Amino acid sequence: MVAPKGLEGLIVADTEISDVRGREGFYHYRQYSAVELAKKRSLEDVWYLVYNGELPSRAEREEFVAEVKRYTAVPDPVRELLPKIAAVGDPFDLMKALRSAYSLTASHYGFKATYDVDAETLRRYAMQTAAVVPTLLTSLYRLHHGKEPIEPKPELSHAANYLYTALGEVPSDEHVRAVEQYMILTLDHGFNASTFTARVITSTGADLGSAVLGAMGSLSGPLHGGAPTRALAMLDAIGSPENTERWLREQIQGGGRLMGFGHRVYKTEDPRSAMLKELATQLRAPQVDFAKHVESRALTLLEEMKPGHELHTNVEFYAGVVMDAAGVPREMFTPTFLTSRVMGWTAHIMEQAASNRIMRPLSRYVGPPPPQPVPDPE
Ligand code: ACO
Repeated sequence: MVAPKGLEGLIVADTEISDVRGREGFYHYRQYSAVELAKKRSLEDVWYLVYNGELPSRAEREEFVAEVKRYTAVPDPVRELLPKIAAVGDPFDLMKALRSAYSLTASHYGFKATYDVDAETLRRYAMQTAAVVPTLLTSLYRLHHGKEPIEPKPELSHAANYLYTALGEVPSDEHVRAVEQYMILTLDHGFNASTFTARVITSTGADLGSAVLGAMGSLSGPLHGGAPTRALAMLDAIGSPENTERWLREQIQGGGRLMGFGHRVYKTEDPRSAMLKELATQLRAPQVDFAKHVESRALTLLEEMKPGHELHTNVEFYAGVVMDAAGVPREMFTPTFLTSRVMGWTAHIMEQAASNRIMRPLSRYVGPPPPQPVPDPE
């Protein structure tokens, strides 16, 4: 049985957490449409849903939010090391700095192998991880820019604290809601590469910290979570409506990828992109009109130059436009994606650990035929 390259179309596990219906342009978390959840519910509610399978009652919400707030502060021994981590890297890369800081946090908390812990302990590790990641990120961001880290305010929501601890000012409701909706939309998405990575690592019985670290590395790639900064950079590089057609044509002709277009599963418009476009319009984002112009030209050219591939706009094209309008600095685009996707990863880690078998596929050897005699050293 030979799997197709990139494992396209292959089902590798059962999950109750989320799914993507690529032909319909629909995806869901548990039993609810993710887009409807983003329109109607808070990030904390959706986080609770992916962990527990049901939306919370009022009392459950209060308890959950209180639990999140217990874990948002960076533990002292790690906090002391953050200035050193924020000074490393040429150029500095927030995703890499987060990796180092989170690795220390997981060690500090003493996360044990998933093989050795019960479901309740693993759930606590998941909460500790998803709650502290935004504070680690915003602290590192501020330190790198010569500013002191800011403690989250207990009265603010998770998304509001993210903006507040990054920017140092209590953000407007409009900006908070935009970032919160973006986070809900990107919280989970079936067996994307980083979630799959987390589940492969979990399948060995390794600790949750190791699985999250692997997923972070996977997300950072430009073909996955690294695309929103590049999508906005593409708009900058195009520069003007007059330049659009020529720039895009040259890029595609040269074998380059248009960032924010194409998707392995969606063969129609990505519903996340549709909602983010709406959000960007509501926010009167500075780049939105130009982005719409580039999108429409890009879709026409992709159809003409890559016929039969059904390439559409994906989540990343308008993600940067929305985050930019909500005041999120560019270097925090992929990290912002991570602050929500870590909720999805940790839900998947718990699901994998609860019904595990080590993932150990085969490869087809295509090198020189063995065994050749091993030559004696010269
Ligand atoms: N721009 C130009 N051509 C493209 C693009 C694109 N964005 N995406 C796919 N194609 C072309 C490929 O060149 C290929 O054409 P060819 O057969 O003539 O060489 C054809 O469409 C099929 O592409 P694949 O690479 O087989 O598609 P795959 O499913 O493997 O890749 C991916 C999906 C990685 C998202 C791809 O579309 C891409 O590179 N997009 C740009 C990066 C991006 O936006 N990433 C974010 C994805 S969303 C997320 O992870 C949250």
